[in-house]
Amino acid sequence: MIHLKSADEIARIAAAGHVVARVLDAIRDAVRPGVTTGDLDALAGKIIRESGAEPSFLGYGSPPYPACICVSVDDEVVHGIPGSRVLEEGSIVSIDVGAFLDGFHADAARTFAVGRIPAEAAHLVRITEEAFWKGFDMARTDCRMGDVSAAIQAHVEQAGYSVVRSLTGHGIGRALHEEPDVPNFGHAGRGLRLTGGLVFALEPMVNRGGHPVRISPDGWTVVTADGSLSAHYENTLAVLPDGPRILTA
Ligand code: MF3
Ligand code: CO
Repeated sequence: MIHLKSADEIARIAAAGHVVARVLDAIRDAVRPGVTTGDLDALAGKIIRESGAEPSFLGYGSPPYPACICVSVDDEVVHGIPGSRVLEEGSIVSIDVGAFLDGFHADAARTFAVGRIPAEAAHLVRITEEAFWKGFDMARTDCRMGDVSAAIQAHVEQAGYSVVRSLTGHGIGRALHEEPDVPNFGHAGRGLRLTGGLVFALEPMVNRGGHPVRISPDGWTVVTADGSLSAHYENTLAVLPDGPRILTA
């Protein structure tokens, strides 16, 4: 069942989203060679809790997710578990943050460069962010979900990259994952008719190589099957009568 949100509920998701945005800003400044992924998790946890929020991901799912944020390096797509790994110059690192505040979750992710990165990696990161905005532009009440999905897929595939298929964006609100699923591939003109009050996380995951992924032995980390680089860009947004609005700004 899809839970459409009232203006008050959207304001509360935006408040959680403000915490998420502050965490991503702080992590952007903290990412550099020599920092551990666990350092970034500690920084995120501190900001989330000082804001009066709770980390959405800690304890989520099974096995229970063991950290506040996901930190996914290079060929890791999403759900990388932070720890003692040291970030190295030339890597890309995807940071996914969820915060729960006043009864509601918000969720967003960015891929950052660690020091100077190869042009190919920078291009992947840029295409992934652009793909998000292509989908965002379709998140309107005169569109269907397939228009959002197809716009993302077209932008990614034009660049010669692949969208991950086995993971999608998702509705979000009182629960971190709600209906509907928000695929990053699909057919224009098909799927759910978008209506005002629909709130979802739109999150293209883009591989330089093929779309297949696998889960590593830790039970969480999703990696590309062919070892190629992967990038992620996510915001929580609301479909409103006058167009989509980002709630994680
Ligand atoms: N943003 C991710 C998602 O929507 C992270 C949630 S998985 C978690 O799937 F376990 F880390 F919470
Ligand atoms: Co998400």
